[in-house]
Amino acid sequence: MKCKRCRRAEAAVDLPSHHSAFCPDCFFVFFQRQVKEGIRKFRLLAPEDRVLVCVSGGKDSLVLWDVLMELGYETEGLYIDLGIDGYSERSKEKVLAYAASRGKTPIVVELAREGIPIPEAARCARMEECSVCGTVKRYFFNRVAAEGKFTVVATGHNLDDEAARLLGNLLHWHRDHLSRQHPFLPDAGEGLVRKVKPLWRVSELETASYGFLKGIDYVTEECPMSEDATSLVYKEALSRIEDQMPGTRTVFYQGFLDPGNPLRRAPEAQLREGGGKEREGAGTVEAGTPRACASCGAPTFAEVCSFCRLRERVQKRREQRAGRASG
Ligand code: AMP
Ligand code: FES
Ligand code: ZN
Repeated sequence: MKCKRCRRAEAAVDLPSHHSAFCPDCFFVFFQRQVKEGIRKFRLLAPEDRVLVCVSGGKDSLVLWDVLMELGYETEGLYIDLGIDGYSERSKEKVLAYAASRGKTPIVVELAREGIPIPEAARCARMEECSVCGTVKRYFFNRVAAEGKFTVVATGHNLDDEAARLLGNLLHWHRDHLSRQHPFLPDAGEGLVRKVKPLWRVSELETASYGFLKGIDYVTEECPMSEDATSLVYKEALSRIEDQMPGTRTVFYQGFLDPGNPLRRAPEAQLREGGGKEREGAGTVEAGTPRACASCGAPTFAEVCSFCRLRERVQKRREQRAGRASG
């Protein structure tokens, strides 16, 4: 099959959802245009932004970093070493290798050094690893951004991620989550930096193809801690529908983002009405203006931020265990 854009080269990527097939060069043009359009539509980024790109070592975030650099944005990468045996080392290697190939040195936060490696923290706090991981990652995304004077934090969530999340939220009628699900979370002031998802228009197949054709080496294994089987079920369900009816996933998610959709509130309204909740984790904080955490000074909507509460819980349990072991 010939590329449907240049009509000369052989097509390398077949995209039924766009009724198209592209050769590598034309696919790069298509992919960049999709990302550009996603940025333009909700004004995710401005040319003068300093972008902190959160990179996990997986394909989406490395592709995000790559395409943002290609588009001319000023970027730095942030890798959080979660302290998960083997997996974290392998992920870090991929991030470092990619960064070096582009003449960059990523910022690395090691949770073991911060006294809060995910596996041990989850055990001590008697919480699910993913929930601990979410709180800790959000905290450092924000802290590193504020300390480094970045104007925006970007993550690699793609169309499949966001559509699966939307399906889950709809099936359970999580109205609160629905009203805040968006590729753009505004700057809340007080050091709560804007968060954006520039890949919201491109599918997993498209990011994987971009990564492959660009020769970006990434970790393919899933995090061993993540037992988030439900999001995989939603992804699979949507993939089956997409196979039968190409383009449905895009219609589903883009229709949700339509400004006329009554299930959603505008990002600015979310802020006034408690956009902070998402940053802090469900049900623990109030709406309003953020203030400084009484313990660490980070912006929070509660007295003490959820990271400090978590760390305190972990420390207490650690001391109890140590006490029992010596006594
Ligand atoms: P996940 O929640 O694992 O699907 O990851 C969503 C996004 O969060 C990724 O695309 C990255 O942008 C970011 N992210 C996940 N894990 C890390 C990490 N260890 N360090 C930095 N960013 C990460
Ligand atoms: Fe967070 Fe695995 S527990 S990525
Ligand atoms: Zn704090």
